[in-house]
This record gives sequence, structure tokens and C-alpha cells, in this order.
Amino acid sequence: MADNTYTRFKDISISERILNTVFLLTIGLGYLAALANMYYTHQGLDGKVGLSVEDVVISYYGSTNQTRLGTAVKGIMAPNLKIKSDQDVILRWIHSGASESGYEENIAPILNRDCIMCHTPTINPSLPNLTNYEGVSEVAKPGGATIPTLIRVSHIHLFGIAFILFFIGKIFLLCEINVYVKRVAMVVPFAAMLLDVVSWFITKTIPEFAYVVVASGALMGISMGMQILLSIYQMWTPKLQDNR
Ligand code: HEC
Repeated sequence: MADNTYTRFKDISISERILNTVFLLTIGLGYLAALANMYYTHQGLDGKVGLSVEDVVISYYGSTNQTRLGTAVKGIMAPNLKIKSDQDVILRWIHSGASESGYEENIAPILNRDCIMCHTPTINPSLPNLTNYEGVSEVAKPGGATIPTLIRVSHIHLFGIAFILFFIGKIFLLCEINVYVKRVAMVVPFAAMLLDVVSWFITKTIPEFAYVVVASGALMGISMGMQILLSIYQMWTPKLQDNR
């Protein structure tokens, strides 16, 4: 009984259905464009064509193949190494996570011998400090997204997508479906968006979270897509309508 007091698609005019439909179609197109944009900004970072979880890891966590120290010992600073094979020792240390114990054991002796005559703050304050672990690890860690960048992108995302999901949800509310399904369906895209944004920050520290980034992003897209498609379907299925 109580259900009859709520508005459903059959209660709204054809004009309003048209407005809802063009809005949903435009949002749907916008979402496809967002997917294409995501593809072009992240694909190929791992050196392979196409978008993969590895690309997402590199975007947020960074890559041990692209550290300042690694690039320097392979490039402009390579001639300073007195023993050529020390290059591999340093690169292997970077790839294995640049630990402090590994630094004390294998890396400090090399840097003290070949590098610190220039890379000491009292001599060259503008160069990376290679005299202690703090200084060295700063240039030995994968870069990835910076916190200010993540904050900027997440505030745009949260504000923008909240509006989009709200309006899609307002239309979807007019569907005739099980109320419990509907209540859950209202929450899912919002929860997925939040999880997506939070997992960007976590992926910056824990690369495995890239899977959560991908899964929650997909869940948001799928749940939003279902709301759009079901709404359009119900609006234009004659037997569900009064044909006003
Ligand atoms: C003769 C002095 C000198 C020695 C020795 C030296 N460097 Fe450098 N290093 C420099 C200078 C100068 C720069 C800045 C170069 C630039 O910005 O173009 C630099 C830059 C760097 C950078 C920063 C690159 C970046 O991303 O901006 C790293 C990392 C580095 N050196 C590592 C090393 C290592 C490792 C060694 C020892 C194997 C070493 N350097 C030995 C002078 C030196």
C-alpha cells in the first residue's frame, strides 16, 4: 500500500521521461569518454601496449625502474663508479626495496668511495645527499603519484561523481523493483567510488592495492551503468507505463 504513495516512472510525463533519458544518455557517453581518457593516460607505462594492473601500480606506487638513483647510475653518474659491476649491486638493491640493512652492508661502501666527494651537503647543498640512508633512500624509492596530486584528483572526483551519482540515483528511484535491491543499489556506486579513491592512497604505499583500485572502479562503472540502463528500459517499456 505505502508503495503507491511514491512516484514511479508511470507517474511522470513523457516530457520528463525525455529529459531523464537525454540526461542519462549524455552521462553514459561522458563515462565512456572518461574510460577512454583513463586508458590513454595510464596505458603503456609498463612498456607494454594496453592497460594492465601493472600500469596502475606504476601510476600510484611508482616503479623501481624509474628512480633517480637508478637512472643516475645507469646514465650520467655511471662514469663515477670505479668498479663497473657496482652498478648492478646498486640496481639490485633498489629493485629489492632499498632496505637500510642492505644499504649499510653493500651500498654505503660504494657511495662513500665514489660519490660523496660531491654528494655531501656541506660541499654541494643542491645535490642529493648520499652520505646517509635517509638521503640515499629519498632518491632510491619509486616515485609514483604525489600526495598533493592524489588530493587534487580525489577532491575533483568526489565532488563531481557525487553529483552525477545523485542525479542518476534520483531517476533510478522511479524504477519498479524490489525495495531491498533498490536500497542496496543506491549505496553501491557511492561506496565503490569511496573505496576507489581511498585505495589510490593505499596503492601509493602498498602496490597490491592496485587490484582494489581496478575492482572498485569497475564496480562503480557497472552499478552506475545498470541504473542507467534499467531506468531507460523501464521508462520506455509501454506495458510499464500509463502512456500519458
Ligand atoms: C664530480 C662530482 C660528482 C660525483 C663524484 C658524483 N656526482 Fe652525482 N651529481 C653530480 C652533479 C653535479 C649532479 C647534478 C647533475 C645535473 O643535475 O645535471 C649530480 C646528480 C646526481 C643525482 C641526481 C640526478 C637527478 O635525478 O637529478 C644522483 C642520483 C647522483 N648524482 C648520484 C651519484 C652517484 C650514485 C654517484 C657515485 C657513483 C655520484 N652521483 C657521483 C656530481 C657528482
